[in-house]
Amino acid sequence: MKHFGIVAVMTLVIAVLTYLLLASGLMPQAASVQAGPADRIIDVQLVLIAFLFGLITSAMLYSVIVFRAKPGDNSEGPYIKGSTRLEVLWTLFPLAIVIYLSFLGAQALGEMRRVDPDAMPIKVTGFQWGWSFEYPDYGITSTELYMPMDRQAQLLLTSRDVIHSFWVPEFRVKQDALPGENLIKELRITPNREGEYTMMCAELCGGAHAYMNSKVVVVSQAAFDDWVAEQTGAANADPAARGERLSRTNGCIGCHSLDGAKLPGPTWQGLAGAQVELQDGTTVTADDDYLYAAIVDPNAQIHKGFPPGLMPATYKDSLTEEQIRDIIEFIKTIQ
Ligand code: CUA
Repeated sequence: MKHFGIVAVMTLVIAVLTYLLLASGLMPQAASVQAGPADRIIDVQLVLIAFLFGLITSAMLYSVIVFRAKPGDNSEGPYIKGSTRLEVLWTLFPLAIVIYLSFLGAQALGEMRRVDPDAMPIKVTGFQWGWSFEYPDYGITSTELYMPMDRQAQLLLTSRDVIHSFWVPEFRVKQDALPGENLIKELRITPNREGEYTMMCAELCGGAHAYMNSKVVVVSQAAFDDWVAEQTGAANADPAARGERLSRTNGCIGCHSLDGAKLPGPTWQGLAGAQVELQDGTTVTADDDYLYAAIVDPNAQIHKGFPPGLMPATYKDSLTEEQIRDIIEFIKTIQ
């Protein structure tokens, strides 16, 4: 009985210390309504994990020290032939815990997926390598995810190429974005804390996966309305300004730098009007026609020193002719 008492105290001490260590600053700040149930079940599991860790380590440490064989004692230990009572206990007890956890999990999932009929739809598109956010209610497309506080957003996720994954740790929810029109995935987020967060791609998706981040900005409804007004104004600006927006929302500048830096694609700095050396040894002038052809049929003429086949040949379908002209106007401004 004395042994059990000591092990029980040790278990308690180790469990409490382990829990305090695990629960201190393990998670980033919570910034959504959906984070509540997620943190709640994680906390229940941390308590269980800490208790089991305490139980196993104290029983083991105590046995190793107290029941150690005396020097020179080479006799065999007592022969123990199972215990039905113990086996029933250590089968039923974990079973009950697992069933209880699955109940908590289903309950939390229900809360996190609760649909608000007034939710604001936002179409989220992942691509190699960036994100774009379209607000159908306002006719806006942005590279930053702006969200008004305390209003549920219905994110509709898709991908233009491979599988990506939308993840903002502060919101505690994550959802893959899959290519294919019939595979749109939904995610409900109700931000409840103003601030700037970083969303990141949580699915290995190629060379620049690690840089596939976007800014998430949670603001008051009034500040959100201001942002919408500003964005709709910017949409009507001059062609180069439109082109700049398009090249950001379509991911062009993920691979083409604006400052001469070497990225997967040729830099846009000083490109327009320059002499471009091609892989076949010839040289062409990067005039409007060349730039247009390079966008709609990127593999026809390969810029020397850059791998063929890297740039998607889908822009002639996803962009209108006018949009491509706007992007070319923007390229011309980067000298
Ligand atoms: Cu997209 Cu990783």
